[in-house]
Amino acid sequence: MAHRHGSFAFAAAVATLALLTAAAAQAPGGARTRADCEREYTPRRGQEGKDVVWAPTEDSMLVRMLEMANVRSDDKLYDLGSGDGKIPIAAAKLFGATAVGIEYERELVEHARCLAAAERVDDRVTFVQGDLFEADFSDATVVTLYLLPEINVKLRPRLLAMKPGTRVVAYSFAMGDWEPDETLDSFGDGSAFYWLVPANARGRWTFWPTSAGEVFDLDLDQRYQMLHGTAANGASVSGRLRGDRLELAFAENGARALVAGTVEPERIVATVTRGATTAEYIGTRR
Ligand SMILES: C[S@@+](CC[C@H](N)C(=O)[O-])C[C@H]1O[C@@H](n2cnc3c(N)ncnc32)[C@H](O)[C@@H]1O
Repeated sequence: MAHRHGSFAFAAAVATLALLTAAAAQAPGGARTRADCEREYTPRRGQEGKDVVWAPTEDSMLVRMLEMANVRSDDKLYDLGSGDGKIPIAAAKLFGATAVGIEYERELVEHARCLAAAERVDDRVTFVQGDLFEADFSDATVVTLYLLPEINVKLRPRLLAMKPGTRVVAYSFAMGDWEPDETLDSFGDGSAFYWLVPANARGRWTFWPTSAGEVFDLDLDQRYQMLHGTAANGASVSGRLRGDRLELAFAENGARALVAGTVEPERIVATVTRGATTAEYIGTRR
């Protein structure tokens, strides 16, 4: 599957990340440096965590994962089980995002706070000590996970209930039978998986032309982001969602009708293409 990387921005971000992890990082005005934080406390790979042990996301994957999720300065990113805070700190430092880490282990929370201050992003990065299963992350636009397959699956209903278009990135482990929208493979440093929370397009829809065109009906069933169904003419319909963006196709009078649109809470605003003709439609639930 496709993914975005290899740009100059990517190289620059990796270089910045290397600086960010260099022990010599300076903090102003007598504040503690990264080296001070590491002298005070050094987490050990494989050390106890509530449901998952601590291990950091590999540096080589971190920037690529945040790029895959298209993290921007207007994002609010939550890392569930944030460990030493490297994902929220990188999201703020390299992409300008606001970020929150939820971490159960108090020492890791304090260490992450120390590192965020050393990296001078503590105005945009918060670490909350608590259980990720009890934390409120409903205002996230991006959620990152490096947990375990069964923990990802346990979180899945909460992720699917988030605002359509919320981006989810998981390092190393997928999420059961919810197929990722993109996969990032790195030989040696594991894989990362990316999902967009799909809108709800399930139901029996009537599509009304806004000017010229014929009314038509579609019955849609949905499994995660995948759509299957039947048109009123009996043709099977298939398509998918990417967040609130919908694409569908079905056969009509021996040709293909393509529906591309946006799913809103109570309607679908769509363009329907039949051969060289396009027409605007509004879909409403019957
Ligand atoms: C594999 S580490 C990932 C750390 C960080 N997200 C990263 O990618 O570098 C998993 C982290 O989740 C934390 N953790 C495990 N169970 C948790 C829970 N129920 N609530 C909050 N944090 C938890 C562990 O303490 C550990 O720091």
